[in-house]
Amino acid sequence: MRLQLGVLLSGSGSNLQAVIDRIEQGSLQADIRLVLANRPGAYGLQRATRHSLSTKVLEPSGFSSRQDYDLAVAEALKSAGAQTIALAGYMRLVSAAFIQRFQGRVLNIHPALLPSFKGLQAQKQAVDYGVRIAGATVHFVDEQLDHGPIILQAAAPVTDGLDEQELSRRILELEHRIYPQAVQWLAEGRLRVRQGRVTLERSGEPLADTQELGPCLIQPPLERGF
Ligand code: GAR
Repeated sequence: MRLQLGVLLSGSGSNLQAVIDRIEQGSLQADIRLVLANRPGAYGLQRATRHSLSTKVLEPSGFSSRQDYDLAVAEALKSAGAQTIALAGYMRLVSAAFIQRFQGRVLNIHPALLPSFKGLQAQKQAVDYGVRIAGATVHFVDEQLDHGPIILQAAAPVTDGLDEQELSRRILELEHRIYPQAVQWLAEGRLRVRQGRVTLERSGEPLADTQELGPCLIQPPLERGF
């Protein structure tokens, strides 16, 4: 069954683009019902419009509390037909009321190997700390910031002299591969969450060639089409 997806974003929307591209290529079985931004200038809205997707802007300043805002966002997504939500560079904490409305079907991508470096500028935090391995995480969302059961992670070496900008670019490349894959696993009904841990049911056909991804480790491995 195709996933009925709502995407929340605040900025560039390159992860939205990666999801759109995999849908258009036919490897991701999903329909994007609404792209909603909390900022009118978010470039991701233009990407959505270019692909004839419905968009909406809801600015938090028009609401008296975070919960009221989140309920309005949830309502907009539900009435557009979205049943699963992908946070794609959505720079807001989502409340428990929002998560409950989508019964644990809210995903997020974060540019760090969680639980390290939550919050803003995760790549800068990693460079400043001096880690030798960095990466990205796709996870189910709970009420805490950048927190919840982990679906998959991609790790890449931080070589000497690699700066924040280059690390961000490298991590983003990996994000664009792992996020659509995680969404597809959800679409296939292959993700089970028990006691805070995610298992991926049945192994798929592994991706034959990951050379163009450079040195990295992705777990669980990407499958054909991603
Ligand atoms: C991505 O790096 C994503 O992982 C990060 O924002 C960027 C959005 O890029 N998300 C977070 O930091 C969430 N805490 P995009 O708008 O080009 O997809």
